[in-house]
Amino acid sequence: MTTTETGLGSFLELTLKQHGSDPGRLVQILLDVQAHYSHVAPQVIEILAEGLGLTVGAVESTLDFYSFLTREPTGAYRILCSDNITDRMLGNQAIFDHMARRLGVSRGKVSADGLVSLDFTSCTGMCDQGPAILVNGIAVTKMTLHRADQICDLVRSRVPLAHWPSDLFRVEHNIRRADMLLAADFNPGSALRAAVEMGRDAYLAEVKRSNLRGRGGAGFTTGVKWEAARNARGDARYIVCNADEGEPGTFKDRVLLQFYAERVFEGMALAAFVVGAKLGLVYLRGEYLYMRAQLEEKLAELRAARLLGGTILGVQGFDFDIEIHMGAGAYICGEETALIESLEGKAGRPRIRPPFPVSVGYRGQPTVVNNVETLCKVTEIALHGGAWYEGFGTKQSTGTKVLSVAGDVERPGIYEYPFGVRIAQVLEDAGAKNPRAVQVSGAAGQCLTSREFGRRIAFEDVPTAGSIMVFGGHRDMFEVARNFAQFFQHESCGFCTPCRVGTTIQARIMAKIAAGHGTQYEMNELQHLCQVMRTASHCGLGLTAGTAITDMIDRFREDFEKRLARRDFEPAFDLDAALARAREITGRDDADSRLLSDA
Ligand SMILES: Cc1cc2nc3c(=O)[nH]c(=O)nc-3n(C[C@H](O)[C@H](O)[C@H](O)COP(=O)(O)O)c2cc1C
Ligand code: SF4
Repeated sequence: MTTTETGLGSFLELTLKQHGSDPGRLVQILLDVQAHYSHVAPQVIEILAEGLGLTVGAVESTLDFYSFLTREPTGAYRILCSDNITDRMLGNQAIFDHMARRLGVSRGKVSADGLVSLDFTSCTGMCDQGPAILVNGIAVTKMTLHRADQICDLVRSRVPLAHWPSDLFRVEHNIRRADMLLAADFNPGSALRAAVEMGRDAYLAEVKRSNLRGRGGAGFTTGVKWEAARNARGDARYIVCNADEGEPGTFKDRVLLQFYAERVFEGMALAAFVVGAKLGLVYLRGEYLYMRAQLEEKLAELRAARLLGGTILGVQGFDFDIEIHMGAGAYICGEETALIESLEGKAGRPRIRPPFPVSVGYRGQPTVVNNVETLCKVTEIALHGGAWYEGFGTKQSTGTKVLSVAGDVERPGIYEYPFGVRIAQVLEDAGAKNPRAVQVSGAAGQCLTSREFGRRIAFEDVPTAGSIMVFGGHRDMFEVARNFAQFFQHESCGFCTPCRVGTTIQARIMAKIAAGHGTQYEMNELQHLCQVMRTASHCGLGLTAGTAITDMIDRFREDFEKRLARRDFEPAFDLDAALARAREITGRDDADSRLLSDA
């Protein structure tokens, strides 16, 4: 072995040891390798496969799935620009072009000296303080040309990231409206103590009584989910906190984790108390790497306070601890079964359901997967009871909802309201001026026009996991739709044909219309594709991948039609022009050598 190979061998040996040579930790191991070597080389794949008892193909399958993992070296500074529609509205392209020019690197490429690489990435969850970028995985917000220059200088001078001005990495909470969750003081351990005093069954009864519904999107009743996991057969039980938050426009879980972490962790401990779990896993999206160290510190504090670990609060048998797992740049890993696959070290492809995770989840055992916000809510119920909780919001949507508001508003940020609040109220509070459209619940959600702003945020009217993106009167909704189509094409996991092919065709049709070659035929095709994906896709991503686009066609048809070349069919590819060279070679230019007789 050469010195470098020896170095490589000992680094991998140490990494494997740190992860207990557990194949289930493959994603975490690959992330460590990527961070150290800026890629995962073929020889590394082989060593890992051997060390983990996996085939090379299995390691490659995981590696190739995640956008933050690469086989080819990235730059020593890897810069990824967030490309959500709100970043675009804030001028991310100009920032990108400026950095590309100054650093002498083009999109998706590494500079000749290996110093820097530059690319776009899906929404990084910083829509209230965009445009945002990631530098070696760490978020930099509020990008301006001035900041871009500052970063280019730091990169050029090869200043290690640890020595960059801390101001660049500040992430604000931007809480604009706090209600029963965000405004309340929280004393760590108080909710657990209350639940322990009540007893497992009584506390579960309170959670059921509250009618709390999951805040991750689907709105399943939390108490029922916990009860199912508790009653399921298994050797072990697990609590998973879904902190993947990849839906474009959503950033409320970021704020809850960064500023209310004790609530989140205590919510996990409450779930463990009810269900009988010994281990909890936080699946933290890769884009939130900046807060990992802080979360680990918080966990250490909770262990020191005996609120995590063995015999919690002196209750015999109440042993529970929490680990943090990082995501690696895959939106689909927010889907709970894909998330579990990822936690097990595999590509994040959604499983066939049933069985549901409550009976067969992480490592085949009963598993509760809850959203970050849901886990905060259960602490309120422990402290104040289910009946109290039920008194807020509406009958079918109890309690409050934390919303992430971004786009054309004066005050982007976090707004907490009792369920049932009208969209018009949210818009007024956020300072929306002349809003033309509101996209609720991200790219997978629904698009509403001003006629619908009287509708309410609630499971029974307009449900949302939290994202509210506002588009002012001057916005071109075709461009919004095109951004969403590109997002879904990029994020489809490729497992099932309707979604894999459907999202690709959808994005191509949008590109064709944008290039001025669209006709009514393409408009009809978009509607048709949406229908096919909605009926035949395997998971929620494909089921909703066309919804926003067809919503926008229905509501803002003029934005699409003004781009249409003709009403009938218009080919995207000019075959006749492509045959010109053949005509030249054969010396023919008669009518029969052309596709169109009048040519
Ligand atoms: C494509 C897709 C992405 C999802 N992303 C998230 C996410 O980022 N966070 C989340 O909590 N739930 C997400 N979900 C919903 C989860 O599958 C699951 O329903 C949720 O985590 C359950 O928690 P809850 O009951 O507390 O809402 C997603 C679902 C789909 C289909
Ligand atoms: S619908 Fe899309 S994301 Fe879901 S399994 Fe199929 S290809 Fe994957």
